Amino acid sequence: MADLLLGQTIGFAGNPMLEGPGAARHSARGGVLVDAGRIVAVGEADDLRAAHPRARVTDYGQALISAGFVDAHAHYPQTAIIASWGKRLIDWLNSYTFPEEISFADPAHAAEIAARYFDLVLANGTTTVCSYCTIHPGSVTAFFSEAERRGLRAFAGKTCMDRNAPEALRDTPQSAHDDSKRLLETWHGRGRLSYVITPRFSPTSTPDQLAALGALWAGHPDCLMQTHLSEQTDEIAWVKSLYPDARDYLDTYESFGLLGPGAVFGHAIHLEPREEARLREVDASLVHCPTSNTFIGSGLFATGRLAAAGHRIGLATDTGGGSSFSMLRTMAAAYEVAQLGGRALHPSELWWLATLGSARALRADDRIGNLAPGLEADIIVVDLASTPAIAQRAARADTLWEALFPTIMMGDDRAIRDVWVGGRRQAG
Ligand code: GUN
Ligand code: ZN
Repeated sequence: MADLLLGQTIGFAGNPMLEGPGAARHSARGGVLVDAGRIVAVGEADDLRAAHPRARVTDYGQALISAGFVDAHAHYPQTAIIASWGKRLIDWLNSYTFPEEISFADPAHAAEIAARYFDLVLANGTTTVCSYCTIHPGSVTAFFSEAERRGLRAFAGKTCMDRNAPEALRDTPQSAHDDSKRLLETWHGRGRLSYVITPRFSPTSTPDQLAALGALWAGHPDCLMQTHLSEQTDEIAWVKSLYPDARDYLDTYESFGLLGPGAVFGHAIHLEPREEARLREVDASLVHCPTSNTFIGSGLFATGRLAAAGHRIGLATDTGGGSSFSMLRTMAAAYEVAQLGGRALHPSELWWLATLGSARALRADDRIGNLAPGLEADIIVVDLASTPAIAQRAARADTLWEALFPTIMMGDDRAIRDVWVGGRRQAG
């Protein structure tokens, strides 16, 4: 039976970062018709009710119906070490991240954390994530099995590292290639799952490993490739010393076949002019991780400037370098970081980044990230008065954007009133 969801609705007919807030589509009393896992129609509530009298109606009143959030860069294995104090990137990896990732050799631990992770992100209205796993193939199996059980569209890959990591977290060029290939053949395109070729970052891979993964990607160009790029200045100096012949950090990927339209680069904060030009030219994706970039002390991503230059940009928590599972909190951090750079991101831009922009960065905007006929029905319902502080501010609002902005800045999982995954309402 078809479902008809009624409330305020928000979607996009274009990119507000290039076209302004007019690219958004808002209805104060709209509806979304869902059938067989897909969005069938989006329109005015009265029109949809009249046209589909037999649909089962769920009326959300004044709440805002939107596409679910898309988190374009996360590390589910870091769930239990989120908010670990006092370190910058390399020390943070060695002190907190690597010891925790070693525990993922145990499939039971991986399964437990994967289930916990999806509980947390769904409670926060995130319906798709693109995650790193650990070097253990079992960590990928745990992640995809849990996503499949819940009917989620999800992206992930085995994190590959063959140097500058503890012995227990090192693979080899050959095993990284072979394990990634086997996992890719098992999971990529199975239901709603996509495998992502995942070298962690240049410092933890030898040139041989990057070349092996570049060769794997060349054989499977429909997969995405994700890695980290130019996150911290110390890291960049380290990359220069490890790859003395490289023109810049991006070149350590480019020269091994790891740059192309399906490349997804996390952070990309301290880019050199050649790197920016080349990333733009190949239309690779840049993923802004604002809570992580402030928490680990990495720097300020130039969202406004890079978007205006035409870069493909997504938004992400970077859990657990990022300090939140919430894409609302992540939008707030993106707003604050852009303000420090002299640019006030409009609520339409923030919402776009967290939904369609991230879907576009993952090259999945033909399937998720928007309220539009034909897209998969991953839908959230957002309460715009979820706490007394937010409610009293939203009560003053004259426009949708004024009503939405307090939830962006102060909202959390309490604002997520309902979540639909693949056309099915989640229990609870
Ligand atoms: N660079 C390499 N690995 C990581 C990671 O796990 N988190 C972050 N934020 N940066 C990285
Ligand atoms: Zn990361």
